[in-house]
Amino acid sequence: MFNERVIKLQPYTVSERDKFIYEKDWILLDWNESTIPISQKMQESLIQIINNGLINFYPDTHSNEALLALSSYLKIETNEISIFNGSDSALNISFECLLNDKDIVSVYGPEYSQIDTFVKMKGGIINHIPMQNLYDFDLEYINNSIKNSKIFYLSNPNNPTGRFIGLDKIEKLVYLNPDVFFFIDEAYHDFSLNNCSSLIKKYKNLIIFRTFSKAFGLAGLRIGYIISKCNNISVINKVRNGKEVNVFAQKAVCEILKDDTDIQEHINNTIKTRDWFNKELNNIPGFTAFLSQSNFVLVKHSSSKDILKFLFDNKILVRDRSNLIGLENCFRITIGTKNEMLKVLNTIIKWNETNYTRP
Ligand SMILES: Cc1ncc(COP(=O)(O)O)c(C=O)c1O
Repeated sequence: MFNERVIKLQPYTVSERDKFIYEKDWILLDWNESTIPISQKMQESLIQIINNGLINFYPDTHSNEALLALSSYLKIETNEISIFNGSDSALNISFECLLNDKDIVSVYGPEYSQIDTFVKMKGGIINHIPMQNLYDFDLEYINNSIKNSKIFYLSNPNNPTGRFIGLDKIEKLVYLNPDVFFFIDEAYHDFSLNNCSSLIKKYKNLIIFRTFSKAFGLAGLRIGYIISKCNNISVINKVRNGKEVNVFAQKAVCEILKDDTDIQEHINNTIKTRDWFNKELNNIPGFTAFLSQSNFVLVKHSSSKDILKFLFDNKILVRDRSNLIGLENCFRITIGTKNEMLKVLNTIIKWNETNYTRP
């Protein structure tokens, strides 16, 4: 008999991408990955792992080299960092370490939907704080809404809206609520103006979650990490399974952090393309593209389902978000290369020419 919590879960639905992932003519813009392949140098260093006969042994369970590389890259002590098999695993294990049955996890507006499963499987309850509007983050309102929570989870920039909350507001909430644990998920922080790492030294009720899946383009290797006070890290490390971070992932972290010039260039290009794409979409009648500080743009149109189908028929996969509360008629488009986004834009323009009827 399955655990009752599993039976109550809604399955996590992903787009139909598994059918096309190996077909080169599809543009996959549904999951906010980098669409650029890893460098030649990275490929060679990963092949070295096979040539050096490292596959038959378990990986370094402390990810020592990767931890040192991260520590010097971030200028944060090694005992304030822990590496995981993707930030999903980091979130899952961190919820496990904190939640008791019926503990409340608050989220504001639409959030990264995967956390529902993690929280519910630990017996936690999600408190959805209704969003007033997409950009609003009323400190007083949120402060009053999280008083009974064990955890406040916030993706910043937010997935799926791209909204970014400034450091000052987050610090104020953390300061005012020492009994609430703050899970700040910075999966997309490289594409935004700021991040919360400076708060780690000051507050013990804070964990920051990061990933190499987005700006660093290593989604397939599965690697993420947390930063927090060393006391929190040592508790979480009791539960973390060191074998879960594979040899390729550990090696890739060391390699990619040696010189991040290409990554910074990719980030800058993505930001430029995002802002250009956003503006172009807003110039098309009927389309609203929301401001984003991430590597994706949330788009609203009254015929969103039709547009998604048209994009799909043109081998462009984006993510329908219209089932989320407050996001009726919305879909999310990952920002790929300028060429890819030109193709998306032209396809949307083509749809618009045949389907738009003036009010
Ligand atoms: C906000 C957020 N957090 C975490 C993740 C998962 O990242 P990872 O690939 O490191 O598990 C995602 C992936 O889309 C995300 O959007």
